[in-house]
Parts: sequence; C-alpha cells; structure tokens
Amino acid sequence: MKPVIVEYPAEHVALLRLNRPEARNALSTELRVELRDQFNRLSEDSSIRAIVITGDMRAFAAGADIKGMVDIGAAEMMARNDEKNWAAIRNCPKPVIAAVDGYALGGGCELAMHADIIIAGEAAIFGQPEVRLGIMPGAGGTQRLARAIGKYRAMLMLLTAGTLTAQEAFAAGLVSKVVDGDGAVAEALSVAGTIAAMPPLAVAEIKQVLLAGMETNLETALMLERRAAYLLFETDDKRAAMTAFVNKNKPSFTGS
Ligand code: CAA
Repeated sequence: MKPVIVEYPAEHVALLRLNRPEARNALSTELRVELRDQFNRLSEDSSIRAIVITGDMRAFAAGADIKGMVDIGAAEMMARNDEKNWAAIRNCPKPVIAAVDGYALGGGCELAMHADIIIAGEAAIFGQPEVRLGIMPGAGGTQRLARAIGKYRAMLMLLTAGTLTAQEAFAAGLVSKVVDGDGAVAEALSVAGTIAAMPPLAVAEIKQVLLAGMETNLETALMLERRAAYLLFETDDKRAAMTAFVNKNKPSFTGS
C-alpha cells in the first residue's frame, strides 16, 4: 500500500492523502520520504498551482512512528536526516493547504503547521504530546506553535501534552477555518481552486514575502513587500488581469 496517495481533483490542484490508516497515519520513514519526493516533484511541476494535504477522518497524522523509534538513539536520528524531508515541504513555493480531520499530534501537528492554510474539520484535535514520551518536538513544534498561538498557550500545551479542539485552535490562531462534519477536504479543495485561478506569480510572491517578512523586522519586511509589489507590475498576468477588468471580461493567466 502506498504511504501517500496522489490525486489531481481539479485543474492545477494536487491532493496528497496520507495513507497509513492502520497506524493513524503515523509518519514512518517511508511515508516521509514519499512526501518529500512528492513535494519536490510538485514544486517543479508548473501545471500545479496549489497543493492540499490530508489524512483520513480518524487522523490527519498521529505523529512520528513511535514503534520505529523505541530503540534508536541520537546518532541514528541524525543519520535519518529528517530535516531533508521537512525542507521539501517548507521550501515548496506553491501554497500548501492542510485539511485536518481527527488527530494532528506531534509530527502530525508539525506537518499541519508546515502548511500555509489550515482547514480543520470540527472534530480535529491538535497537540504536541512529545513530552509524554520523554522527547520534544523537533520539526518546528515549539517554534511554530508559539508563533501561531503565543508563548503562554504554547507552553501550556507543550509542557502538559494538552490538546486543542478545532474551535479552540481556531480561536487561538492555529487554524484558518473550521468546517462542519466531513467537509474539510472539500473546503480545502475549494480554497485551492480559488488560489489556482489567481495569477501564479502574484500568489508565489505573496507567499514568499509573508513568510520571509515574519522572520525579520518590520522595516525590512516592508521593503521586501514593496520590491515584490513593484516587480509584479512587469508580469504578463498583471496586464491581462487589469485589461480584463477594464474590458469587463475574464482573464486567463499563464504564470508569466
Ligand atoms: N506511531 C506508531 N503507531 C501509532 C501512532 C504513532 N505515533 N499512533 C497510533 N499508532 C498505532 C497504534 O499503536 C495502533 O496500532 P495497533 O493497532 O497495532 O495497536 C493504531 O495506530 C491505532 O491506534 P490507537 O488504538 O491508539 O487509536 P485511538 O484512536 O484509540 O488513539 C491516538 C489515537 C490518540 C492518536 C493514539 O494512537 C496516540 O496517542 N498516538 C500517539 C500520539 C503521539 O504521541 N504522537 C507523538 C509522536 S512523537 C513525534 O511526533 C515527535 C517526533 O517527530 C520525533
């Protein structure tokens, strides 16, 4: 059984489904490598403009595969070079949307936080319970969580292995939108379709500038924003979009 199923449910949109339901989509080495390969491939594929990643109704992903970690030490962890797998997702220039149903725990919560937008089903549960296992998050769980929900809520979650419901995660700023029932994937695909219909270079610049700006001071971030905003005035898609607005017709975008 393939650990990641790839589908193309709409034009310019790829859907990645984690596929280890028997292990609550725990992130085995095989799954991580497959995810890395898919992200590297989709990042390069100019026909793809948005990527949705999901699990199943019981679990988005229950974290690293604990069964594969019981007897391993630090050297083995370093040799696995998991950072290479995360970097493929982190460096993806296309918008990534996580559709989270069920558990997003440990590495699963970290995977969701690698996305640019998180759509949660109403029964989703978010948490970083690593402390219970005598370890801690190693793929951004302390840092991204604190940036998303603030130091005090993050500390409480991380140190007590506490969890957030979808609504709590939304209220805290970890989730973009909560959807009733099993509608998270459909909503994520709808958002992906909307993004995929936008001029791709503008989408790419917005993603890059927002993320880079969060890592620096406001003056530098504003300078980055201005430069990218001016640059977009040189694109064919900007001309097509503005001309279509003036002529009251529908533009099509080429990503040039
Ligand atoms: N790794 C390996 N197997 C896992 C797993 C995981 N993270 N999570 C669940 N499974 C397996 C279970 O062992 C079980 O397998 P068997 O049928 O062979 O017994 C199967 O999936 C179903 O699990 P449960 O019976 O426990 O299902 P549940 O619905 O009652 O509970 C759960 C679901 C709350 C997610 C629970 O399984 C759980 O707490 N899982 C562990 C979550 C966790 O601690 N994650 C952090 C891992 S460490 C990490 O992520 C950090 C890192 O990168 C190093």
